[in-house]
Amino acid sequence: MSFKGKTVVITGASSGIGAASCIEFAKRGASLALVARRKEKLEELEKTLAKFDINTLVCECNVSDKMQVQKMSSQVIKKFGRIDILVNNAGFAIYGRVSDLTIEEIESQMQTNYFGMIYCTKNFLPKMLEQKSGHIVNVASVAASFGLPGIASYCASKFAMLGFSEGLKHELKGTGIGVTVVSPIMVRTSFFDHQSFGQMPKYSPTSLSAKTVAKAIVSAANSPRLEIIVPSVVRGAVWAKHTFPYIINPILGSAFRKQMAK
Ligand SMILES: NC(=O)c1ccc[n+]([C@@H]2O[C@H](COP(=O)([O-])OP(=O)(O)OC[C@H]3O[C@@H](n4cnc5c(N)ncnc54)[C@H](OP(=O)(O)O)[C@@H]3O)[C@@H](O)[C@H]2O)c1
Repeated sequence: MSFKGKTVVITGASSGIGAASCIEFAKRGASLALVARRKEKLEELEKTLAKFDINTLVCECNVSDKMQVQKMSSQVIKKFGRIDILVNNAGFAIYGRVSDLTIEEIESQMQTNYFGMIYCTKNFLPKMLEQKSGHIVNVASVAASFGLPGIASYCASKFAMLGFSEGLKHELKGTGIGVTVVSPIMVRTSFFDHQSFGQMPKYSPTSLSAKTVAKAIVSAANSPRLEIIVPSVVRGAVWAKHTFPYIINPILGSAFRKQMAK
């Protein structure tokens, strides 16, 4: 599908899934706003995207700061005059037991992963409503369906994202604006470089490439679905967890607790 003439805003564009998504949208002709804190990384990506002959805008922005998000959204609308797709992808996790994490560490995950998504949505939604078109793609995780030991506060931020998206999707019915959550399993990115993950294996044999998830994000931008789980076979595990929680939860809890004890 072509995205020529469409403006796509991607948060967390400086690395991993966000950077790969920029490339996939660029291949399809979209104008792109690249949003993250590390400006130099965004500028490097902008150079890579030059071969696609598209319009780009680098926006240095910490999405957990509502004033910075307001400024970033004004810059985007000033340059492109519209927004067609908002990809709320910026996010991170801090690994550790709730009893060991500080309140600030727990707050910071919610502030970026959940409130960052809220700030971007609140700032771009009025333009989408005015246009009577648009799509919000929120990058959650399978951790939006499974509360796991070691990443409880990260899971909470993604559960919150999924719940918010579901409610918002209902509210926006008939407005021409869609909402879709993309929930991948483990992806090979810098996500696990955070020092809290320590010696934990960064990748599993089943982990996905950022490009695979980026392609799911492109599909999500036109999808009527609430949630796209990547890979789709994992939907079965989510169904099993909701249907037989008394069987699935103890198995998962035990596996993840063993990992935590290592
Ligand atoms: N990797 C996985 O296994 C996995 C699985 C499921 C879901 N996810 C989700 O996928 C999304 C992308 O993660 P990734 O795997 O691509 O990790 P990544 O390579 O570490 O990328 C994270 C991106 O988020 C940006 N970011 C973090 N905090 C930010 C803030 N306060 N303001 C603006 N940008 C911020 C980072 O840019 P700057 O540092 O330059 O700001 C970076 O571009 C996250 O929401 C994550 O929860 C990841």
